[in-house]
Amino acid sequence: MNDILLLPGDGIGPEIMREAQKVLAVLAPELSWQQGLIGGAAFDETGLPLPDKTLQQARDSRMVLLAAVGGPKWDQIDPALRPEQGLLKIRKALGLFANLRPAKLYPQLVNASSLKPERIAGLDLIIVRELTGGLYFGEPRGIRQLANGEREGFNTAVYSESEIIRIGRVAFELALKRNQKLCSVDKANVLEVARLWREVMTDLGRREYPQVALSHLYADNALMQLIRAPKQFDVMVTGNMFGDLLSDAAAELTGSIGMLPSASLNDSGFGLYEPCHGSAPDIAGKGIANPLATLLSLAMGLRYSLNLPAKAQQLEDAIARVLASGVRTADIALANEKTMSTVAMGDAVIKALC
Ligand code: IPM
Ligand code: MG
Repeated sequence: MNDILLLPGDGIGPEIMREAQKVLAVLAPELSWQQGLIGGAAFDETGLPLPDKTLQQARDSRMVLLAAVGGPKWDQIDPALRPEQGLLKIRKALGLFANLRPAKLYPQLVNASSLKPERIAGLDLIIVRELTGGLYFGEPRGIRQLANGEREGFNTAVYSESEIIRIGRVAFELALKRNQKLCSVDKANVLEVARLWREVMTDLGRREYPQVALSHLYADNALMQLIRAPKQFDVMVTGNMFGDLLSDAAAELTGSIGMLPSASLNDSGFGLYEPCHGSAPDIAGKGIANPLATLLSLAMGLRYSLNLPAKAQQLEDAIARVLASGVRTADIALANEKTMSTVAMGDAVIKALC
């Protein structure tokens, strides 16, 4: 069994993954790793965004570290073969239904956020996003021709009770370990699927987690509250589509989406770890991307899938020291601060590890 499968993917993916490999070689040289293909890189080489071989490599590994997929180069190809499909397929095939996206503010970056420092100082929340259902995967879906000749696009938002309970338990368990507070986000004022979501979450809370204070917000209000007063939240749980939106917004609160890691877990604790940001084609190849979200994702993997909490802590501490020392990539730098390259940031983390 291999320890880690590295999937660099597209855009800035290969650049930031190189830094993760450098760090791994210093932090945990005893771990075995191999590389695989996903996204546009996989499409270019094999004609598929998720080749069977990659899926097999993932199944033969204890965790996956993925950088990013997608880019304008593949905008015109068959939508079923788009790079993003590789990511969606690997999530589905490995049953990675629980996506944890922690938004934690490093005190050193309090001025990098677009919010006033007093609104975000000490921010530490986590979004639990359902990742293998909902609008992203619901059937039927497609683009059809209507009788009048125009086309109509359609998707289906669908959640079964068991899917809601499964992600609900993950969120309630997390809330138990933190501040016994959980906010469930839905759109129960409009959508039947969300009405069921709210009812099932409420029942689950009453039955199994009476210690946790469960609240509910409509998604539009939740997004507003997240920007207005983010510190009111501790754990938030929501479906696939709203989770996608909420987590990008939460990322910006912490100064940059270049700082946010995520874990996607299945029933048996196997996980795929990836930064919340995308492939950033606008800066790909320039050597300026922030590798920290990927390094923080690696730390999450070391902790949750490889059971190496001390190594995870060592890496997280090194990153905090690097930030404290003023090293900044462009995305987290203030106007008057000197910016460093992707490689220099990786080197700084390695130096802080030793
Ligand atoms: C994310 C990304 C993906 C998603 C894309 C790249 C398919 O935005 O992980 O948040 O929508 O889930
Ligand atoms: Mg997203």
